[in-house]
Amino acid sequence: MDLKGKIAVVTGGSRGIGRAVVRKLNCLGATVIFNYLSNTAAAEETVKSCSNNTVKVISHRCDVSNVEDVRIFFKSILDEFEKVDIVVNNAGINRDNLLMRMKDEEWRKVIEVNLTSSFLVTREVIKTMMRKKFGRLIYISSVVGIRGNAGQANYAASKGGIIAFAKSIAQEYAGRNITANVVAPGFIETEMTNKLPESVRTKYLASIPMKRYGKGEDVANLVAFLASEEAAYITGQVISVDGGLAM
Ligand SMILES: NC(=O)c1ccc[n+]([C@@H]2O[C@H](COP(=O)([O-])OP(=O)(O)OC[C@H]3O[C@@H](n4cnc5c(N)ncnc54)[C@H](OP(=O)(O)O)[C@@H]3O)[C@@H](O)[C@H]2O)c1
Repeated sequence: MDLKGKIAVVTGGSRGIGRAVVRKLNCLGATVIFNYLSNTAAAEETVKSCSNNTVKVISHRCDVSNVEDVRIFFKSILDEFEKVDIVVNNAGINRDNLLMRMKDEEWRKVIEVNLTSSFLVTREVIKTMMRKKFGRLIYISSVVGIRGNAGQANYAASKGGIIAFAKSIAQEYAGRNITANVVAPGFIETEMTNKLPESVRTKYLASIPMKRYGKGEDVANLVAFLASEEAAYITGQVISVDGGLAM
């Protein structure tokens, strides 16, 4: 796979899956611009960890749930690079709670960061993709968005919403050579999952047929394929990277 000459944007690239995606797209020759919420040191670490120095890797602070932040972020990218070929909607959070205890703020925040962000970001890039007659939109959902999860009603709703959103975008823009696909990771070892109690981690592990947690790179490999020319005829799909968990 070769992404030379492509301009790729990754949301939430400072850590975890997003960092692995930034590194992979950079390795394949894309210019990568990524954003993060507040962890500047981690963002700098992502930039430093990229191995291909022939292309730029740029980090921006931008809250993907904030309409003005997203507008400014994409304006600066389009001013400098004049196009965006690939967008990986990866930034996400969880605020787990049982429904009875779930606070308004826990519901609202998760929907805004995980789902509304995909709308805000896609709306900013769709015109340039239409003009260039090329676009690869990739959305990071979750196994939980497919089958739900007790204690994660807000997170599951946001991730299920991403799937419906991406399929709608796939239908709206298929005729413009713009594809929209969803990656649904299972249990990937990142700061998000490291916070879970050992008992929950062990329970998950027992239910993964491949008997190991996933790595950011497992997800990044699929993202890179979906971003490439080789995936030109694939759109509106939800593909799991989960060691068989969602089977
Ligand atoms: N890990 C898993 O097992 C798993 C499974 C299924 C799906 N996923 C999904 O995969 C994606 C990445 O997960 P992860 O485990 O890599 O998470 P993570 O390690 O917690 O990293 C989250 C990333 O998102 C950024 N971010 C959070 N809120 C943001 C906001 N409002 N604006 C911009 N950036 C924001 C963070 O920036 P800062 O560093 O500045 O905080 C960070 O770069 C998420 O959408 C998650 O739901 C993860």
